[in-house]
Amino acid sequence: MVNLKKIKDEFLLKLNEKLNLSEINLIKTELFGKNGLVSSEFKKIGTIPEQERKKFASDLNIVKDELQELINSKINEIEISEINEKLKKEKIDVTLPERSFVQGKIHPVSQTIDEISSIFSEIGFNVEEGPDVENEYNNFTALNTPDNHPARDMHDTFYLDKNKEKLLRTHTSPVQIRTMKKDKPPFKIIAPGRTYRSDSDQTHSPMFHQVEGLHIDKDINMSHLKGCLNYFIKEFFEVDKIKMRFRPSHFPFTEPSAEVDIGYEIKDGKIVIGEGDKWLEILGCGMVHPNVLKNVKVNPEKYQGYAFGIGIDRLAMLKYGINDLRSFFECDYRWLNHFGFDPLDVPTNYRGLSR
Ligand code: PHE
Repeated sequence: MVNLKKIKDEFLLKLNEKLNLSEINLIKTELFGKNGLVSSEFKKIGTIPEQERKKFASDLNIVKDELQELINSKINEIEISEINEKLKKEKIDVTLPERSFVQGKIHPVSQTIDEISSIFSEIGFNVEEGPDVENEYNNFTALNTPDNHPARDMHDTFYLDKNKEKLLRTHTSPVQIRTMKKDKPPFKIIAPGRTYRSDSDQTHSPMFHQVEGLHIDKDINMSHLKGCLNYFIKEFFEVDKIKMRFRPSHFPFTEPSAEVDIGYEIKDGKIVIGEGDKWLEILGCGMVHPNVLKNVKVNPEKYQGYAFGIGIDRLAMLKYGINDLRSFFECDYRWLNHFGFDPLDVPTNYRGLSR
């Protein structure tokens, strides 16, 4: 008995000190481990004279329970205080002002491409892509462009080999061919991307951007084309009314063909779209030539439709008041900071395209 009381008192004292988890665990083994003090007492039960045995065992159990409970509650206490400590350290003050981490800006051309894609996807156009390095067939031949056509001229086209088989695409129209070759009609796609022509001045850059549109189905006619472009221009410039005119033109891959101008005026030194008596050409379009459809194994008796090619850079210049095309490609950080867009602000029709 003396032994039991001694153990209890000694450990009550020990457990009252400030302990960490591993110290408690050490005490636990000291008491209840295989050769622990309490465990050894239990082993003695058999050697105790019979009349004392019952009392010894019951006292031992009481001491064991008491110490065990104390140890468990200590462990619990330590664990809770450790969690609290951790929570305190990991606390984030959400009321603190954000650090200005947004360093980059979205280039106005990328922004414009996103806006265009959003506008056309609202009316069922899918976005397609094609490579910048094209073959002569997709860029010219399949598009009904004869061998002697001036567009094939070295002065306009960047050829990549002597045989003039590989080139930098001169327009996004080869994506029409790629799309129609790989799928079955109907087709309703746009294809934004880089295009290249040997041209360079204030309004021409050897690399520029276009977005191609193609809608092929049964019974598609020129009025669909007009309706589609009218919708697009209004959405893009975020205006209710637009002045638009179709001028007869020529492209080998469309018949009839047209160029589209939009009306504008200059008010207080700024371009205002949709009013005034000045005209600006923004795109070429027309009804896809039957030869083009034949080249991609689409039956022109059954299917027909329209195509258009819009110059993206010019649209971006008009919308965002940028007056030198070359500034787009100069990579001037200060320029981008001024004209660029917040990367977290993705343009969508319902939230507003540009804010
Ligand atoms: N590919 C023509 C160009 O680059 C534009 C266009 C596309 C015209 C589709 C008609 C149809 O000028």
